[in-house]
Amino acid sequence: MIKYALKFLTFLVVAVFFLFSIFAPFHQIFPNLESYSIDLFGWYVSIIFLSDLLFKLFVLTNNRMQIGFLAENDLGNYLKSYFIFDLIAVVPIALFPNPSLWQLLPLIKIFSIFRRISFIRQTLLKFASLGVVVQFLYWFAQITHWISCGWLKIAGIEEQSSVTTNYISALYWTTTTLTTVGYGDIVPHTNIEKIYASVVMIIGVGFYGYLIGNVVSVITKRDPAHEKFISNLDNLSAMVKHRNMPKELTSRIRQYFLYLWKHRLGNNEGEFLDNLPQGLKSEVQTFLKQDVIKDIDLFKDASKEFITELADNLHELVITPDEFLFSEGSIGTRVFFVIKGELSVLIENNTKEIAVINSGDFFGEIALFKNKPRNASVKAVTFCYLYYLDKNSFDTIIPKYPAIAKKIEAKVLEREHLEE
Ligand code: CMP
Repeated sequence: MIKYALKFLTFLVVAVFFLFSIFAPFHQIFPNLESYSIDLFGWYVSIIFLSDLLFKLFVLTNNRMQIGFLAENDLGNYLKSYFIFDLIAVVPIALFPNPSLWQLLPLIKIFSIFRRISFIRQTLLKFASLGVVVQFLYWFAQITHWISCGWLKIAGIEEQSSVTTNYISALYWTTTTLTTVGYGDIVPHTNIEKIYASVVMIIGVGFYGYLIGNVVSVITKRDPAHEKFISNLDNLSAMVKHRNMPKELTSRIRQYFLYLWKHRLGNNEGEFLDNLPQGLKSEVQTFLKQDVIKDIDLFKDASKEFITELADNLHELVITPDEFLFSEGSIGTRVFFVIKGELSVLIENNTKEIAVINSGDFFGEIALFKNKPRNASVKAVTFCYLYYLDKNSFDTIIPKYPAIAKKIEAKVLEREHLEE
């Protein structure tokens, strides 16, 4: 309940601030517009900002609450930092003489709002990149509006023109100045106008650089898997240039990267997971791998406990068509589970195929289970996405779960029997 109230209040405060930040500066220039009364609106703003402040204090004093929509999480910190802005913003501006620059005081809440919006953006991770663009566009529009109002205040309005014409001219001046286009048809005359114009130009250069840099980086760095894919292709292209790589090999490498990219694999999720504490990492791994693990016939009815332990120890592997995973007679160090793809089991110097292994199956268990060399070679027929378990993990985990061990043993017997 409190959480929803806080959410609602956050949206209300942001919306009210948004309207206020448009109307309040506008009102300074055109105080006598009939369609807009600062008195009534001023009261709304003060009351809503006051509710926000009180509610925030209430939530922060009840520390045990889940504060989903607040950037602050500690009353002491809040009182030392953003509290002052929230407090100034509740002054009852409707009581000031009209028009007066004091009426702009609630705009100081921008600092607190800015922090809150950034925080909300961080919680809505799915829309993070869109959020950056929207936020920039918003600030761009907001700043343009404020500078336009400032210009009208300094340069004065043309009495014979309408409100709209005056405002559009100011907007036009701001845009040409901010973007440093500067047509020069509206120019500063007085000293103060010149100083104002210079400041706006400096803001313009900085702001544009910042805006364009950020938007470009958001657009290009949207997807880590894509980024990784592009960087892999760049490296491959450099190798082709300098190392004279054969065409066939190059093409296989390219196909491999394409496969990773298409299946959103290989974007260093492992590296990211390594940054998490063990407990959290284990939970994430179980979540990510559980569906895939359940697709393996051997683990169909496995317990949650087993899946968690397995997920912690399973590693991913992608191999390309015609690649050998291991050869007959070699020492077995891993057992493999096929998530996607098809593999061929070969004996007699890889001249005789004795079986084909498909998605949902496993192989390489005989050497581990019986502690003897591989009894066949295994080669990928198509691209294969596999999970594997190291011998050590296999030897520690499997004996703890007799039902699974039994199934593996049955499979070993069946396969050995087939070969005889
Ligand atoms: P391992 O001996 O460790 O290495 C080769 C693997 O091929 C073997 O384990 C089995 O997993 C698999 N294998 C061997 N024979 C067959 C078969 N007849 N059918 C399916 N898979 C097999």
